[in-house]
Amino acid sequence: MSGGRARLAVLISGSGSNLQALLDACAQADFPAQVVCVVSNVPTAFGLERARKAGVPAVALDHNAFGSRADFERALGDELEKAGVEWVCLAGFMRLVSADFLARFPGRVLNIHPSLLPAFTGLHAQRQALERGVKIAGCTVHFVDAGTDTGPIIAQAAVPVLPGDDEASLSARILAEEHKLYPLAVRLVVTGKVTLEGTGTRVAAQVTGSEQSLRSPGAP
Ligand code: GAR
Repeated sequence: MSGGRARLAVLISGSGSNLQALLDACAQADFPAQVVCVVSNVPTAFGLERARKAGVPAVALDHNAFGSRADFERALGDELEKAGVEWVCLAGFMRLVSADFLARFPGRVLNIHPSLLPAFTGLHAQRQALERGVKIAGCTVHFVDAGTDTGPIIAQAAVPVLPGDDEASLSARILAEEHKLYPLAVRLVVTGKVTLEGTGTRVAAQVTGSEQSLRSPGAP
């Protein structure tokens, strides 16, 4: 954190319930970050309403209006720089970001994904988990690298897969954990308790109790 609270951008494409969880966390006086900018590549995304309601500048940047991915990402990066953003949180942002974009925010782009990575990357992670018959599913917050859902892992939460689950019921159970995990992961990185180390992450020795980067069924 560079003096004061870390400045976050949240990038969305849809409902923005993870955005809401971050906005709610940032509304707490002792949370070490603030959301200073929300950008959606889908102009109709409900998350834009959530941002406006919270008094956060919300920008629709329709990727279809740009001639190329590079042009879209340049405009996106410019928007974030204009807002003085230090950390970029992808929260249901359904566009891949390129190495050129990442180079503008080195080691400072995070993503949440609805699986226990490295399992089930890409789209429909919850469906993939059901199809493989796993008994434990979950979600992951990770640093973004140039691959798809491959970056170093910051924090994970596990949930059981229950008999009779379908994609909707499993997704809802995972989403409830996502809403706790993303604020936790943001807290860990902006306070320097979890740092990038090569292709992995290092967790500071003082991370204990409710700050632990694993949430699992039955854990306190
Ligand atoms: C969340 O489940 C998030 O993990 C997922 O999209 C949903 C967005 O919900 N992201 C991905 O699948 C990215 N690969 P939200 O808009 O309500 O936060």
